[in-house]
Amino acid sequence: MQVYSEKQQIIKAITLLKTKKQTIGLVPTMGALHRGHLALVESALQNNDYAVVSIFVNPTQFDNSSDLKKYPRTLEEDVALLSTLSKERILVYAPTVEDVYEGNAVSEAFDFDGLEFEMEGKFRHGHFDGVGTIVKRLFEIVTPHNAYFGEKDFQQLQIIKKLVEKHHIPVKITGCPIYREASGLAMSSRNTRLKPEYLEAAPFIYKTLTTAKKLFGTKSANKVSEWVENQFSKHDLLELEYFIIADAKTLRPVKRKSNKKVYRAFIAAYADDIRLIDNIALN
Ligand code: PAF
Repeated sequence: MQVYSEKQQIIKAITLLKTKKQTIGLVPTMGALHRGHLALVESALQNNDYAVVSIFVNPTQFDNSSDLKKYPRTLEEDVALLSTLSKERILVYAPTVEDVYEGNAVSEAFDFDGLEFEMEGKFRHGHFDGVGTIVKRLFEIVTPHNAYFGEKDFQQLQIIKKLVEKHHIPVKITGCPIYREASGLAMSSRNTRLKPEYLEAAPFIYKTLTTAKKLFGTKSANKVSEWVENQFSKHDLLELEYFIIADAKTLRPVKRKSNKKVYRAFIAAYADDIRLIDNIALN
């Protein structure tokens, strides 16, 4: 499998593939790959001639320097995992910060029509400007036909769709379902940092979401939120940061339920110092 650390090299390889009319699907990642990432790469391989997997821990999307420092970096294992899918049809782009940002690792300021101010935007300042900056840059470098993102970061997925729409970037964005452990815990690179007791506790997040979904059938969003907050207040190990039921399109919190709208419930919670997020479709 070809692993490129310099953008000029991968641009050359992609240009050659494109002259042969080959299609490219991009899977942007920050590495520490798990089964959920592999499912995205599988989708890219099914629907394109080649998959490009970028592996880059993007400094501009972290508002907490210790989180950035502790983020797992496992390039060798990542490449080994990817080669179980294909050695010939996957190109890895694992650049340095210098290669991507050319000495200027700062975010662009984006307007995502308000999507950036909801949920994660309230707790991770500048996060979506950082995500927008790196994803836009990856689209410019890789020029993919398609790009694949997980629904675990549902807000990020909506924001990337908005980025593409507003900046007229010719790439089709596909969202892929959340991949879960047998326990229900949403797969995340951060799970590897959970101490055993927290790993055991963390499936409570998904369990709570599934019950919230049932309750939402008969109760108001406020009542469901109260119930969830109460469940977390009784939990010894997990600390709820937010629970929100929102319109899946605008991401605005629901005030009054309507049969015509599609809703989703979102959770962010701390397990020790590890921040976990998850979400579920409600209707
Ligand atoms: O979801 C992620 O892993 C990151 O936010 C992304 C999209 C790779 C951008 O750094």
